[in-house]
Amino acid sequence: MNKNSYAEHLATLCHRYDAILETCGYESLNVYSGAPGVRFLDDNYYPFRVNPHFKALVPLTNNPHSWVIYRRGQRPQLLFYRPVDFWHYVPPAPQTFWSDHYDIELIADAADAKRFLSDKNAAFIGEATKLDGWKLGEHNPEALISRLHWARAYKTPYEMDCLRQANRIAVKAHHAAEQAFRNGVSEFEINLAYLEAAAQGENQLPYGNIVALNHHGSILHYTHLSTQRLPETELRSFLIDAGADYHGYCADITRSYAYKPDEFADLIAAMDNMEQELVAALKPGLAYPDLHRECHLKTAQILRQFGIIKSSPEGAVESGLSRSFLPHGLGHFLGLQVHDVGGHQTAAEGGTTPPPAEYSFLRTSRTIEVDQVFTIEPGLYFIDSLLESLKNSDLGSEVHWDKVDSLRPYGGVRIEDNVIVHADHVENMTRDCF
Ligand code: GLY
Ligand code: MN
Ligand code: MN
Repeated sequence: MNKNSYAEHLATLCHRYDAILETCGYESLNVYSGAPGVRFLDDNYYPFRVNPHFKALVPLTNNPHSWVIYRRGQRPQLLFYRPVDFWHYVPPAPQTFWSDHYDIELIADAADAKRFLSDKNAAFIGEATKLDGWKLGEHNPEALISRLHWARAYKTPYEMDCLRQANRIAVKAHHAAEQAFRNGVSEFEINLAYLEAAAQGENQLPYGNIVALNHHGSILHYTHLSTQRLPETELRSFLIDAGADYHGYCADITRSYAYKPDEFADLIAAMDNMEQELVAALKPGLAYPDLHRECHLKTAQILRQFGIIKSSPEGAVESGLSRSFLPHGLGHFLGLQVHDVGGHQTAAEGGTTPPPAEYSFLRTSRTIEVDQVFTIEPGLYFIDSLLESLKNSDLGSEVHWDKVDSLRPYGGVRIEDNVIVHADHVENMTRDCF
């Protein structure tokens, strides 16, 4: 990673943090990395997930019991936990592209942090588990967190580079996964091929991979990873939604494949084309929910084109018929978290703008602006429970059920890319790597 790009990034963050702290009336910020939780009645730990506000400042994702102390107008301080421990791996003191920008204190004991922390005009951001009695300042003040979340929607050039690199890693692994699918191995084995190619373990990835053969593609968050290999005669389709991490930034990519050239392959091609049209339609000033509506119209056109529904595309959107085939949102902010924060936020100060009532699962109600990063992920599924309700509703007569039944065993299609909105064009980080 380019040292200058990080330096510029940190300068932007300091500028933002100084203004936000001043507005909210704080002099300093105590940001805790967090610590792994202990499993119930056990002496093992849950996988550690760092506080996103910590990794927003310092690109460390796996160093619990650490702190960033940010004082307005000053160089940030990092309390880096480095115990004397012969049971576990202990990371070396940081000496990398970002470390010169911090005053680093190595703490051998988690409680040593107390010597550096102060609650004077301070705010604390983090989970306060096992920090009883610590002097930390006001815990997670909403006014402060809202402003930080709002700012995170506008990515710096360094962040864009991290997101591009996360895409590069994920796309390489998607290629390996497709090859494994074509070799006829199980979902579990396809996932192993993905992890190996990404060189990232499950706990490092931003979310649990969705690796779905055949009808499993209709389960939106299918993370079961069956170990069963299917005979070649039964292999029909493959949907994979899998990401990667780079310095704490996430990729979130979905691809769908047909095993043979058949009608489902044509459906994937139509969805792929439609997804690219939606990406091209992103532009500053457009309300994201309007693009979501456009996505429903295009989905309904495909449903009609493939003889799945009888209604006109406009009628299928109006009646809600298209929602039985596309029950999730068009996409979301992407960054330090896979569903990055602030998608429903009304203003920097806070407030919530809910998505349109008929599209309650849409994670983004904001107007699109330059430097924002989104996923665009239209889908079309054959979901048994939704189809059952549809069949028993007034809209049931608007569906060609024989066609639905022929496509049901394929599960569904989703195509998901990660894009940056620039002033004069949309950058598709994912397609740039495929
Ligand atoms: N992988 C979760 C999502 O696409 O939102
Ligand atoms: Mn996804
Ligand atoms: Mn997504």
